[in-house]
Amino acid sequence: MATRNRVEGSQVRLGVIGTGGMGQGHCSRMNTIPEVRLTAVCDIVPEVARKVGEQYNVPYFTDFRDLIRARLCDAVLIATPHPERPPIAIGCMKAGLHVLSEKPLSERISTAEKMVETARQSGVALAIMFQRRLEPALAKAIEIARSGRLGTLFRATMISPEYRTQAYYDSGDWRATWRGEGGGVMMNQAPHILDLFIRLSGMPNEVYGRCETRLHKIEVEDVAEAMLRYPDGGTGYFYCSTNELGPGQMIELFGTKGKLIYRDGVLKFYRYEPPVPEFTFQSTQMWSSPQRIEETVEIPDIPHGHAAITRNFARHLLFGEPLVSPGEEGLQSLELANAVWLSSYTGKPVRLPLSRRAYDAFLARKRKESKFVKTATGYQRVTDPQHTA
Ligand SMILES: NC(=O)c1ccc[n+]([C@@H]2O[C@H](COP(=O)([O-])OP(=O)(O)OC[C@H]3O[C@@H](n4cnc5c(N)ncnc54)[C@H](O)[C@@H]3O)[C@@H](O)[C@H]2O)c1
Repeated sequence: MATRNRVEGSQVRLGVIGTGGMGQGHCSRMNTIPEVRLTAVCDIVPEVARKVGEQYNVPYFTDFRDLIRARLCDAVLIATPHPERPPIAIGCMKAGLHVLSEKPLSERISTAEKMVETARQSGVALAIMFQRRLEPALAKAIEIARSGRLGTLFRATMISPEYRTQAYYDSGDWRATWRGEGGGVMMNQAPHILDLFIRLSGMPNEVYGRCETRLHKIEVEDVAEAMLRYPDGGTGYFYCSTNELGPGQMIELFGTKGKLIYRDGVLKFYRYEPPVPEFTFQSTQMWSSPQRIEETVEIPDIPHGHAAITRNFARHLLFGEPLVSPGEEGLQSLELANAVWLSSYTGKPVRLPLSRRAYDAFLARKRKESKFVKTATGYQRVTDPQHTA
């Protein structure tokens, strides 16, 4: 999507909206990015906005509309809870500010699409914080999958242990509720790996999902799994859970020409010689199979982490560098997450594209019928230590 309005000068003046755990993590690494200057912060809780504003010596606001009116920013990074993001992002983009959104864009596909459409109409950039796209082994896996070296995809599998304690869930009143978050592991922990899975295997056209709450005392799912069908007949399966610990995060793709195996940061690629369909019909041997050749995989040495995405966003605004994770590419993983829940709820496979109206009606019903009483132990704004500078 074209960004019509570039930023003049050598630095993007960036505001951070939502200065909780992740937002403060972003603030803490702004001074490591030469093309960015933190110029304002905003949080709906006055003492949080003030504390962070004073810490970084920038003006602070409690309402994003006041931040817009102050004209201190060219762009904003929005790290509020996800259901809060669409109105803030749309308001900022309509006022001409570029937006870097935390993941997921929203809790539902219909409002995320409105964000993408507003960016298009306003000629501003919308990007999403999918920093895992730059993890070297995963960036290489995407390159291999896109090069056609796998042939036609027959199977795609993903397993993602995303362990969280009950204390994590109890640390904020919005977490793991239909109203505050709009889902559990599918909505908060899985978006990165779902995005990577889709980058590697493509988008399925049928989803048979199952979500359940197996261990935690939460309103939404801590386990989700789905069987998938791809347009060319391939099949897929994934499982994500906040009950399970690593090791074992894996993505595996089997195609007619090869097999790609990613597991805990290690990537392997095997080439089949000749390709499987050829060999299957040419071989006269009863017990034989194509040659399996393990190819050397050169892992690139590239900058990664959140700051690399923020820097790419700034360089896009200043110099037109292509975005690593454009906002519209945040739609697919969200549509898939929504489809898993709708399928789980109806007990039937769901065809994609997902009916936006059916999902909105499902979510509205879940929110209306909610009787869950949240027992938050007190709001804590502390992000995963691996995300701090
Ligand atoms: N990219 C990543 O690796 C990553 C990691 C962690 C969290 N996140 C995402 O970041 C978002 C925030 O997560 P968190 O863990 O920092 O949550 P958090 O609860 O610690 O912080 C959210 C902050 O937003 C503020 N807020 C709420 N509504 C607001 C509004 N309308 N205007 C301004 N401020 C508002 C809250 O007061 C709070 O300070 C989530 O969407 C989450 O998915 C992304």
